[in-house]
Amino acid sequence: MTQIPSMFGALRLPRSILFGRGQRAALGAVTAGIGRRALLCTDERQAAQPEFAAMLADLAAHGVETQVFDGTVPDLPLRSIDTCVAQGRAFGPDVLIGVGGGSSLDLAKVVAVLLTHGGSARDYYGEFAVPGPVLPLIAIPTTAGTGSEVTPVAVVSDEERGTKIGIASPHLIPLIAICDPELTVTCPAALTAFSGADALTHAIEAFTMIARPIDAMLTQEHVFVGKNVLTDHMAKLAVANIFQFLERAFRDGSDDEAREGVMLAALSAGCAFGTAGTAAAHALQYPVGNLTHTAHGLGVATLLPFVMQYNRPACAAAFAELAELIGLSGDDETSRAQAFIEAVSDLFARIGIPASLAALGLEADRQEEVAEHSLNAARLIKNNPRPLDLAAMRIITRAAFTGDRASLATI
Ligand SMILES: NC(=O)c1ccc[n+]([C@@H]2O[C@H](COP(=O)([O-])OP(=O)(O)OC[C@H]3O[C@@H](n4cnc5c(N)ncnc54)[C@H](O)[C@@H]3O)[C@@H](O)[C@H]2O)c1
Ligand SMILES: [Fe+2]
Repeated sequence: MTQIPSMFGALRLPRSILFGRGQRAALGAVTAGIGRRALLCTDERQAAQPEFAAMLADLAAHGVETQVFDGTVPDLPLRSIDTCVAQGRAFGPDVLIGVGGGSSLDLAKVVAVLLTHGGSARDYYGEFAVPGPVLPLIAIPTTAGTGSEVTPVAVVSDEERGTKIGIASPHLIPLIAICDPELTVTCPAALTAFSGADALTHAIEAFTMIARPIDAMLTQEHVFVGKNVLTDHMAKLAVANIFQFLERAFRDGSDDEAREGVMLAALSAGCAFGTAGTAAAHALQYPVGNLTHTAHGLGVATLLPFVMQYNRPACAAAFAELAELIGLSGDDETSRAQAFIEAVSDLFARIGIPASLAALGLEADRQEEVAEHSLNAARLIKNNPRPLDLAAMRIITRAAFTGDRASLATI
């Protein structure tokens, strides 16, 4: 009798997730249930929006005193965090609210850690370095991509080390996520494309990564525990919605139904990778982002089809399952898996994602640096379905640089 493997599931999530058009109007009531003094972390663009003024009025109407930090810098250089922490110390908030793209949400997370536990962001790099609960966090995304509103990680740019680096701890998961797709209608087409592509990358990496041996200590020893039955469910919800709606939202930003579908995808992809983790495309984006000064989502999306091609021998069944989910067919598992890789690559071409690292702006003589530095992201490397070493990273980087995906099909 063949032994059926037992199921394993793990999800770490906010206490409440509110999703849907108009849900931002719950902010005042929700915040009043947690605290009386709210520090809002956002950027200048967002702080000038009428929706932001309405949020402040709603908070005031519910008796919540507010202070606004509107100096978030994309990709979160460390010095921009210090300014916000100093303002936070002087104000003494009992709740933090992040409103904006992933950079503003990650700022709120890091500031919550520093106001609660002191020190500098550097003290908390890696996994499980945050010693205990932090100030309660409410996260309100205005892009549909990062999933940061539900994840246990914040990514900062350490200029001294010349890299982006993650702080990963279950204590960073916001208490409440309010996901209102109406807040994304102002996203220009390019931002819509690369943040949506980031969400698809989260879903695919979470769905195809390794499933670790089941062990009761797995969730206690790893922030990112690998593929499991619960994260798979969220990842599939994300993939289906991206294929149905991302191109529509890219072509017509005022298409409310498409905005809704893409935000649902970003949220569910965040739920998937926040527990399962991400892998090689994210590890390679760190050095690529540093060298090309390009946005996170744009980099992971450029890399994803090449990483998928390299990984295909290790996760053909998972790719084939995603192919079936979006209505693709093929004679056998390998051809269905390949059809899914082509579908991702075609979708990205239609929404303006570059077809190679050269087109993204990487210089030819920096390929070795990309391959070497990608291995620094150990928490991402260990999750990849096909083992990765320097030789493998060189092969992927070289193929991605020239856009020669076919060269990866035979190795
Ligand atoms: N914590 C996580 O789980 C996680 C996951 C993936 C990425 N990230 C991080 O998130 C950051 C990227 O976040 P992002 O892609 O959301 O962008 P972002 O927050 O860096 O913002 C990029 C630009 O988009 C603008 N913007 C945001 N919302 C807008 C809107 N509704 N209309 C018009 N303009 C808008 C911002 O003002 C800014 O100028 C990176 O630092 C990345 O490392 C974090
Ligand atoms: Fe990402």
